Amino acid sequence: MSVTAAQATLSLQFSAQDRSDVSVIVMDGSQKALSGSAEQKKEAEAVAGRANFTASSHQTLLHNGETGTLLLFGIDDALQSDLNAEKAGASLYNALRSHKKQSAELIEAELAVDVLASLCCGALSQSYEFGHYFTKKEPTSQISLAVVADGIADACADGLAMLQGVFLARDLITEPANILYPAEFASRCQSLTSLGLSVDVLDEAQMEKLGMGALLGVGQGSRRESKMVVMQWHGGGDEAPLAYVGKGVCFDTGGISLKPAKGMEDMKWDMGGAAAVTGAMAAVAARKVKRNIVGIIGLVENMPDGNAQRPGDVVTSMSGQTIEVINTDAEGRLVLADCLTYCQEQFKPQMIVDLATLTGAIIVALGKDYAGLFANDNKLRDAIVAAGDATADQCWPMPMGDNYDKMLKSHIADMKNIGGPWGGSITAACFLGRFVQDGTPWAHIDMAGKAWADKAGHAHPAGGTGYGVRLLNKLADDWQDA
Ligand code: BES
Ligand code: MN
Ligand code: ZN
Repeated sequence: MSVTAAQATLSLQFSAQDRSDVSVIVMDGSQKALSGSAEQKKEAEAVAGRANFTASSHQTLLHNGETGTLLLFGIDDALQSDLNAEKAGASLYNALRSHKKQSAELIEAELAVDVLASLCCGALSQSYEFGHYFTKKEPTSQISLAVVADGIADACADGLAMLQGVFLARDLITEPANILYPAEFASRCQSLTSLGLSVDVLDEAQMEKLGMGALLGVGQGSRRESKMVVMQWHGGGDEAPLAYVGKGVCFDTGGISLKPAKGMEDMKWDMGGAAAVTGAMAAVAARKVKRNIVGIIGLVENMPDGNAQRPGDVVTSMSGQTIEVINTDAEGRLVLADCLTYCQEQFKPQMIVDLATLTGAIIVALGKDYAGLFANDNKLRDAIVAAGDATADQCWPMPMGDNYDKMLKSHIADMKNIGGPWGGSITAACFLGRFVQDGTPWAHIDMAGKAWADKAGHAHPAGGTGYGVRLLNKLADDWQDA
């Protein structure tokens, strides 16, 4: 069996391959070899002693020996957790790449099969590359890694399904906005029907009928038609679904409240929340999760033009509440407002989690390690923190409350779309909270600092991270209502 993802530069084999350039010898902190043939282990341990190889975490040593080419790979004592093993896998991939090895084997490992599976998934995740638009650059060579162990294919199955969703999200985030506009995003969602998802796309006429004035107002300055995509996974009989909602602003110029030129290109990934939801729906479908889950994404482009909405305009949301649009750059919350209302009216979900690259202020508050988490329900908040910690998609709880909510008071409508000068992520969350019905557990994840990484992080290269897919995928298993 062989596993090759579209954008992976690593292919995993779960059976021995004809030849390998190198044998990976995993070594623990006491310089004991944990993989390879008996002769290779002996040689590796002797080499480690001579070369003063301490096998500290992710230390490598390449040795051309009598038992073949060996890559000694240190793990110290630390493949205890899944996340640890994933990180080791990512480092192993980097080592194979930097030593220019085309094929490697990891055999007879004295490691639990789950640990080995996490290592495989970490390596594969790290090997993601988006190379579509180079016409002259040599494509990155494929590395093939054979990992032979009892039950390894089964142990990897869920992780590989999850990574399929992560890679999809990274692709969507990385695509430029001239390629990935709302209709194109929607059509990529439609191809997920092959996984057994049902996918419906609402166009502007349908959204108009439903009264989605908040979402449509954002898109009205764009030549591209706005869309809403509803993806459903039916794995759980009669239970009310879990709902995942994502901000899909395919490009955010700010609209008439135009953003400065510097860094505006980053706003191609202002659909990172929608990408996370789409990737998570792919993952739960590929894993055939025994739950009902609905994913709803609002897809628009926020552009300034003669038809664009103006600062001061008042729009009526699907909920019936009116909004004075003080700043057209606070557009994500307008899109999400109508997604949230539609979600509740249509599906009566047992809980809702929305994800959005919503505010620059969350990056000021938390930096780039944590997304901000806002919730009206302690149990849901705790479940999301735990799912985030378990998957390296971390979130940090943030406050809400009436004093922040009051800042949204408008003189002419039910609310303004921005608050005061401070606490911008919190007032944004309070705005969303006004579109959640009492009694529905709801959480909002502001992932503006997480969608894109300037440098490599936990088992991902620089670029689109796929943040949120793993968290939502895990939450689908762990969330228990009541
Ligand atoms: N998409 C931005 C938020 C953002 C900023 C995401 C940086 C990723 C990186 C959002 O639509 C926005 O423009 N927010 C404004 C809100 C303000 C006008 C109240 C912001 O953060 O400045
Ligand atoms: Mn904006
Ligand atoms: Zn935005």
